[in-house]
Amino acid sequence: MSRYLVTAALPYANGPVHIGHLAGCYIPADIYVRYLRLKGEDVKFICGSDEHGVPITIKARKEGITPQQVVDKYHKLMKDAFADFGISFDIYSRTSNKVHHETSSAIFKDLYDKGVFTEETTEQFYDEEAKQFLADRYIVGTCPKCGNENAYGDQCERCGSSLNATDLINPRSTLSGSAPVLRKTKNWFLPLDKYEKPLKERIESKKEEWKVNVYGQCMSWLNEGLKPRAMTRDLDWGVKVPLPGAEGKVLYVWFDAPIGYISATKELLPNDWEKYWKKQKDEKDNAKLIHFIGKDNIVFHCIIFPATLLAHGDYILPDNVPANEFLNLEGDKISTSRNWAVWLHEYLKDFPGREDELRYVLTSIAPETKDSDFSWKDYQARVNNELVSILGNLVNRVVVLTHKYYNGVVPANKKSEEIDIQLLETVKEKTKEIEKLLSGFRFRDAQFEFMNVARAGNKYLTDTEPWKIYKDNPDRVADILYTGLQLSASLAILAQPFMPRFAKNVFDLLGLDYHPSFDSAGNSNLVNAGTQLQPARHLFTPVMEEDITKQIERLHATKADNASEVVVEEKEIPSIKAETSYDDFVKMDLRVATILTAEKVEKADKLLKLTLDTGIDQRTVVSGIAQYYKPEDIIGKQVTLLANLAPRKIKGIESKGMILMASNEKGELCFISPSDKFNEGSTIS
Ligand code: 2FM
Ligand code: ZN
Repeated sequence: MSRYLVTAALPYANGPVHIGHLAGCYIPADIYVRYLRLKGEDVKFICGSDEHGVPITIKARKEGITPQQVVDKYHKLMKDAFADFGISFDIYSRTSNKVHHETSSAIFKDLYDKGVFTEETTEQFYDEEAKQFLADRYIVGTCPKCGNENAYGDQCERCGSSLNATDLINPRSTLSGSAPVLRKTKNWFLPLDKYEKPLKERIESKKEEWKVNVYGQCMSWLNEGLKPRAMTRDLDWGVKVPLPGAEGKVLYVWFDAPIGYISATKELLPNDWEKYWKKQKDEKDNAKLIHFIGKDNIVFHCIIFPATLLAHGDYILPDNVPANEFLNLEGDKISTSRNWAVWLHEYLKDFPGREDELRYVLTSIAPETKDSDFSWKDYQARVNNELVSILGNLVNRVVVLTHKYYNGVVPANKKSEEIDIQLLETVKEKTKEIEKLLSGFRFRDAQFEFMNVARAGNKYLTDTEPWKIYKDNPDRVADILYTGLQLSASLAILAQPFMPRFAKNVFDLLGLDYHPSFDSAGNSNLVNAGTQLQPARHLFTPVMEEDITKQIERLHATKADNASEVVVEEKEIPSIKAETSYDDFVKMDLRVATILTAEKVEKADKLLKLTLDTGIDQRTVVSGIAQYYKPEDIIGKQVTLLANLAPRKIKGIESKGMILMASNEKGELCFISPSDKFNEGSTIS
């Protein structure tokens, strides 16, 4: 038996949980933990709310309440939604807890006492009226790149440039409106460069086990060279820096948040937590630390937090960080600020008792290797065509027939035929495959193989047709139903990590009051002859057209209503895609082109039809930029064209090539243009 400490990213307590969080982090983590528990492993599943950081203070200010009130509200909302949804955390804690303040403060102090930090004095903007230093998001000014007068201190939302607050022209504080002044301030930096070598060695040793996207992003950070990073901030919301002369400073939210995993374990197991976190005398006895996160959190979990743990010295390092890519919604990026999301608490209200359906669909489309898309139509199709028609229908048919012919009492199996033996053999093989996939964090494929077991079961019933032969051969029907019931029990066993409610319902239906082990799926004696089944009932019911129409309409309506609300999450760069070859890259013919004409495309809000001068020809390109540029503003603009992309018809217009756009984390777009005017047709490489 191994010991596992499994964590799921602590969500910021400044907004509710949405399906992107579920698909990227919480459902895969829950599947994995449920599987480990079924295998009898010693596992603790840790999560909680991340209650510090600048965005929470901004939200509080905007709503005229205190940061504590903000986090109290969202902590409760998220905790309840996770519990109602059945994510099986052993603890869902929060970083405003006393134990967390004490733990993170003590780890900071330990590092300080060991002389780990460097002290650096830098110049930061200070608001003399509000009497406080200003985080970048508290400063607005004119963007030096595009002239937008309301650019933030870290980014211009119009042109998407990432900025330093000192780049802004005429900066002003959002707290008082006054012009901030530069003032010297001291902060404590973690010299990440010092840990570069051990971190690189460690991550390289995991190359085969870690996901390509995670490994690739880590290597790109490491190869660029790590730089010292401030672990304290001039802010009054967070864990106070436990040093004299550090009044008005708190720990950087990304220093304290991952320590939240340790604090929560302490809270759960006050006397026993160390064996899940600290190095044991014999390395073989160390727990395995697994972090489930989204791709925007990779650097923090693979580099910064491990550097903190290394600097401390007593702690184990993550064994694996199976980060996922992002989930889109109806073809568009999920966005809190644009309210383009399906919120978990709302789903639970609108679809009571349908937790498994959402778990199933989100696992089927999990963004394990690349971004993926959720749509309500696809949700409906997967529930109706897969869960209702394949899985639920199979178990239901077997139970209905057992009631019809045997009053719901499991018949004795007299003589198995090859087809019966073969079916259960298939289940055994699939079980092994599913176990391998689950252990390798490939939940999407694992669930697909699980459904293949149900598909095999349906084929078995279609091939054996018990309803046709009962009159002539009741003994054979007894054998078929006996096998069908063993198969149903196997499905319940295998479904447990993916769809726990379905699994329990089937166990109940079959009168199974014990918990067979995971690898007993495919056994021929799971449900004993003579067992009384419960009355048949539908395990899944179809999703109706009006249910999803309502969701689609609401999505579009709330998007419009809330377009002005901006909640900025503290995110970093997206992960680097899987490696590509130079040979593949040079296949793309990239050129400078100039926009000659631009017009809106009828009945397509997002599209502009452009004529481009490529230096070689004049051609039409349809581009999805209408939300960001007015046609009249872009005539004469130079852009980057992918000139040899196969022509496509878009809204009936033949589009030849594609204009390359930069996209920020909110999904806003801007052109990539040469910095000087260049002749049309100039190549880009
Ligand atoms: O991205 C986020 O939502 C962060 N709050 C995740 C923190 S994970 C951990 F470090 F606590
Ligand atoms: Zn700008």
